[in-house]
This record gives sequence, C-alpha cells and structure tokens, in this order.
Amino acid sequence: MEQPQIRTKISELVYSDAFGQNFLVKGWVRTKRGNKHVAFIALNDGSCIHNLQVVADVAAFDEELLRNVTTGACVAVCGKLVPSQGQGQSVELQATSIYLYGKADPDVYPLQKKGHSLEFLREIAHLRPRTQTFGAILRIRHAMAFAIHKYFNDHGFFYLHTPIITASDCEGAGAMFQVTTLNLSEPPRTESGEVDYAQDFFGKPANLTVSGQLEGELGAMALGAIYTFGPTFRAENSNTPRHLSEFWMIEPEMAFYEIQDNMDLAEDFLKFLIAYALEHCADDLAFLEKMYDAELTDRLRFVLDNRFVRLSYTEGVEILLRSGAKFEFPVSWGMDLQSEHERYLVEQHFRCPVILTDYPKEIKAFYMKQNTDGKTVRAMDVLFPKIGEIIGGSQREEDLEVLQRRVEELDLPQKDLWWYLDTRRFGSAPHSGFGLGFERLLLFVTGMVNIRDVIPFPRTPKNADF
Ligand code: 4AD
Ligand code: MG
Repeated sequence: MEQPQIRTKISELVYSDAFGQNFLVKGWVRTKRGNKHVAFIALNDGSCIHNLQVVADVAAFDEELLRNVTTGACVAVCGKLVPSQGQGQSVELQATSIYLYGKADPDVYPLQKKGHSLEFLREIAHLRPRTQTFGAILRIRHAMAFAIHKYFNDHGFFYLHTPIITASDCEGAGAMFQVTTLNLSEPPRTESGEVDYAQDFFGKPANLTVSGQLEGELGAMALGAIYTFGPTFRAENSNTPRHLSEFWMIEPEMAFYEIQDNMDLAEDFLKFLIAYALEHCADDLAFLEKMYDAELTDRLRFVLDNRFVRLSYTEGVEILLRSGAKFEFPVSWGMDLQSEHERYLVEQHFRCPVILTDYPKEIKAFYMKQNTDGKTVRAMDVLFPKIGEIIGGSQREEDLEVLQRRVEELDLPQKDLWWYLDTRRFGSAPHSGFGLGFERLLLFVTGMVNIRDVIPFPRTPKNADF
C-alpha cells in the first residue's frame, strides 16, 4: 500500500468521512490502552481538543516499538481512516506503520494521568501546553488575538507599535521595572554621590512601559484611529488571581471620540470578541465548560445579549452605600473601588456588565478630561462578572492650559512630557481611548479563575522561572 508523504492535522480528520483513505499523522501520545491483540493509542497534535484514536494490531508491530509508545511520546502514524466501532469518537486510524520520534520515560514524564490540579500544572509550565486544558486555553488565546486584529482592521484602525522601553514615567499606572546596563554592584556616581544615569545606556533612567497610551495618543492625532497590542509591565507586589507583572494590553485611541463614543466602542468590541469565541472556539469552550465551569457559555451569551448598564461612579457609590452589604473595605465617595465593590454592582445589583464613568479626579490619571464640576473626570471602567475591571479608559483632556495646570498640581515632570503636551499645542482635538487587559478578557472567555492559567508563561512576584 502506498504511504502518504504529507502530514494531515488531526483537526482535519476527526470530523472527516474520507473513509478508506490513507493518512499520515504526527503528534504526542495522550494514552495507550488495549490487550495482547490490539493497542488503542489516543494521539493529539495540538491542532484541536480532540484526540485521534489510532488502532494498532499488536502482532503487526515490533514489540519494543509498541512498548515505547507511551503517554507523552511523539510518533508519526500512517494508516487507514475508518468509522470507529468504539464510543467517544466517530473515526479511527488503523495503523499500518508507526515511527517513534521521541520516547517519554513513564517513570519520569510528569503528565502521566489525567486531572492534574492547576496548581501542579503551574509548576510545570514548560509541559502544561501538552494538557487538554492548556491546549484549549492557548488556542482560545490565539483566536482572541486574531479577532482583536480583525476587529480593528475591519473598523479602519491602524496597529501602532509603541515602545517597550520608555524614559517617561508619567502614566502613573503603576510601579515600573527599571532597564539599565549599569553595573549594579558598582554604579558610576556623580560628584554628589547619586547614580550617574548620564552613563547609562540611554543617558537617563529608563523603564519597561506600563501602557502604550501616551504614544498611542500621538498616533491617533495623526492617523485618526490606532490601537496598540503589546506587553506591558507593572512592578506592583500584588499577588492576586487577577494581576500579572507582565501582561498584554490592547489600547485603541481615537481622534474625535467623546466618552459616549468610547463606551460604545468598548461594548461593541467586547461583544464582537465574545461572539467570535462562541463561533470559532466551540469545541475548546465545550471542554472547559464540562471540566471547569458549567455556566461558561451561558455567561458569554448573557453578556452578548444584554446592553451594558452605564452609570456614574457617584451613583455606583450610592448604590453600594445603600446596599447594606458588608465589605472588607468600607465604601466612601472618593475611594478607589475594590474588586469586591465592582463585583457587587455587577453580580448582585445589576446582574449585568456595568460601565462606571466620571470618577473622582484624585484617583485617576492626569490626562483624563476634567468635568465642569471640578471634582470628577471623564473616566470609564468596564466591569465584568467574576472579573471586576476588564477595561479602563477615558476621554482625554485636550485643552493645553487645563492639562498643564493638572500636571503642575500633581507635580509631574513637565520637561519629560513636552512631546505629549505638543499634541495639545498643535492641532488639538477631542479624543478618547481605553485599555483592555488581554488576560482579564481571557479569564472571562475561558472561565478560568487564576490569571496565571491564561498566559503561557506567567510573571508574578518571585516567579519568572520558565
Ligand atoms: O486601568 P489601566 O491601568 O489603564 C491604563 O493603563 C490606560 N493607559 C489604558 C488606556 O486608557 N489606554 O489598565 C487597563 C487594563 C485594566 O482594566 C485591566 O484589564 C488590565 O489593563 N490590567 C492588568 N491585567 C493584568 N495584570 C495587571 N497587573 C493589570 N493591570 C491592569
Ligand atoms: Mg484601571
């Protein structure tokens, strides 16, 4: 019989009806079971959640070869596709040849059984992509990244690459990681004894970016509508299930958008992404729903089918004060809302995604457009069930004088901001934007509860091993 030369992905076979034809597949063994006469090998190649059942007639194969086909081993199999007699799959491959690429010693390969805890899998982040769970999550992650580019491309936004290394510390979004080539045990010093950054690589202190927004605004004020999609870094010591030290953020920025337009875009964008996941990741979502979160697709559909409730921070605080609910952090006007407050509004009160606007200016960044009440700014946070804040954004202050006054009030280094202030000096216009935390989105879409489980290699305080 002629052997096929071209490899076929398992995703193309599991729903195929090309019975009687020969195929070549390559992948990793999930399990092998059987008896003296026949071996059943569940093979997965990462292309989809499903395994291909390979059936091998024991007598037809070298004994040692079959002995080495164990969980985790990598093999190539040629065989004939036939309808499956067994339960759990509709097709199987009757093996005519098996080639062993790489063994996986059963005594030491860590992924022997099914049902490892997520905590255990975090300790073997180098191998966890081989599990069904992480295969599903990583495919969904890919699909969401693709959908984000598709959405913006279809809506006339341009992808702007903002810098990872920055010398401005103005965003105020969080503590920064310093980037330096100075010898830390013996840095050069000025006469007054301070570290002499003039001798550092960039001639001044530099950091990893906490957000691409400020540069994104420059792009919007030239190209009209841009988005960034890149890694951002925050050196906060927050060890929570919703914070990473390195996470990916999507930041659209639009000229001529006011806060209402910004909210409309955020809602439409999130709904597009969720609809995309439901349409294109159905098998992976079904697996996660079965294994981890029985309400997953209901929750996704619910968000899709309902308008997000919009109200001001002040109204939100009033609801929380009137609620009589016990919070770890008592509520008062002016405070930064905690996740428990956000989730109360979303999960208990409105039972719906919420967009809170017009926050006290003291708890928001300097660039947000000030309202005429003198107390609040045109901020908007989108709050989601089980997540809390998924998006943070605002209309930006476009008035040079008002912005400069705020910069002075907050004692920010004006000289470092000259390039940013220039957008207000030359051809200023109303503009708005927001930032979506990519991993927060993935928490929502996958139903996972720990943000370390929706990024391949999580970076958190004291953890950058893999
Ligand atoms: O609210 P943030 O800090 O907003 C900004 O950085 C603005 N410059 C965005 C803009 O207007 N262009 O962050 C935006 C989002 C949050 O809503 C959250 O989803 C996510 O980024 N985020 C984090 N995700 C994971 N780990 C962290 N430590 C995060 N901090 C923020
Ligand atoms: Mg925020």
